[in-house]
Amino acid sequence: MAMASPASSFHLPLLAICLASLNVMLVAGCYSSIFSFGDSLADTGNRLHSHRFDPVGRFPYGETFFHHPTGRYSDGRVMLDFIAQAIGLPMVRPYLAGTHDGEGFRYGANFAVGGATALDNEFFRSKGMEVSWTNDSLSVQLEWFKHLLPSLCSRNCSYLMSDSLFWVGEIGGNDYNHAFFQGRGVDEIKTFVPGVVSAIGSTIEELIKLGARTMIVPGNFPIGCVAIYLTTFQSARREDYESGTGCIEWLNQFSMYHNRLLLDELSQLRRRYPQATIIYANYYEAAMAIFRSPQEYGFGEFPLAACCGGGGPYNYNKSAKCGRDAGVCSSPSSQVSWDGIHMTEAAYKVIARGLLGPYTIPSISRSCPTIKWNVLDSDYKYSAQS
Ligand SMILES: *[C@@H]1O[C@H](CO)[C@@H](O)[C@H](O)[C@H]1NC(C)=O
Ligand SMILES: *[C@@H]1O[C@H](CO)[C@@H](O)[C@H](O)[C@H]1NC(C)=O
Ligand SMILES: *[C@@H]1O[C@H](CO)[C@@H](O)[C@H](O)[C@H]1NC(C)=O
Repeated sequence: MAMASPASSFHLPLLAICLASLNVMLVAGCYSSIFSFGDSLADTGNRLHSHRFDPVGRFPYGETFFHHPTGRYSDGRVMLDFIAQAIGLPMVRPYLAGTHDGEGFRYGANFAVGGATALDNEFFRSKGMEVSWTNDSLSVQLEWFKHLLPSLCSRNCSYLMSDSLFWVGEIGGNDYNHAFFQGRGVDEIKTFVPGVVSAIGSTIEELIKLGARTMIVPGNFPIGCVAIYLTTFQSARREDYESGTGCIEWLNQFSMYHNRLLLDELSQLRRRYPQATIIYANYYEAAMAIFRSPQEYGFGEFPLAACCGGGGPYNYNKSAKCGRDAGVCSSPSSQVSWDGIHMTEAAYKVIARGLLGPYTIPSISRSCPTIKWNVLDSDYKYSAQS
């Protein structure tokens, strides 16, 4: 009020800008960057960069938020985007879209690739299976990270490593998808689980040895609630289905089996590396909460059918896939399943909110008190405190 000279009023906007950027720095205090590894649940453009004709590069992918396809397997943002925004960081840039010299990766990098597996293709070959949809497995993604790292912190990386959030997964889902859709039996596929979990474990271990201090490790979604599985493994036996949700029970049991082994692995890692905070993200229960009472979260009463699909009881038709010949629903925000495999932005938003609340153990919000909950606002039932 007292300052009326022309000079000081001239400087006021500048001062405001300085204060605003200072404020951003203070608010964004929890992590300086995010590095993400995984598959299509977290891909923000990597696969599209290397497979230009992937259906994910076509409308209606991206229609809701970005209004054009970005390489995300959804109509809009994915969980990683929401968590980055809630932490106060920009959306995580896909590694393959960058120049790899560190430029543009100041706030982290996303290495997740649609179709990626935890195990390398040699494994699938050794089982007499067709190799997977991509060679960019978890170990390849880790190599990309190690290649990028020196350009981000040439002299001393310990600050960057300890101040970053590492998101390791979800990964492994495709190792199983691949086998299930090639007709392998569940008993055989169960024998893959220890190898998948140990691939995840050794990636975590390497990151810790490089100085990582905080990581989120998600389990698998309930695959028995996913339209492509519900369609492929449709059954006339009522007892194959969970009452209440209509999900296929034995497939959900399989997801739980993976998650149990993963939790055991994480317990061992926590004992071995007490200096690290290893956060388990319970994708399974976060999703089941929606499937059990979709309407409480703003979704329609039949959450198992895809929004973008080519017909059939779950609107998933492998002859008419999303991005090719499928139609799209008029209101993706009231659907859970986007394309029969992946979820809508609306569902990812609800789950991201849950991850900041009860579905991460220990909770992300406990180690990050400056979370911007308003990024995820809506009529959720999850409470903002943890
Ligand atoms: C994976 O690598 C193999 C061997 O290098 C190559 O023949 C194949 O084309 C690659 N597949 C993809 C999807 O890039
Ligand atoms: C790197 O920096 C950290 C803290 O900033 C310090 O403790 C450590 O000794 C440094 N390491 C090297 C190799 O200089
Ligand atoms: C699946 O798509 C094909 C090709 O468009 C079509 O002929 C078929 O009728 C569809 N199936 C269902 C169940 O809608």
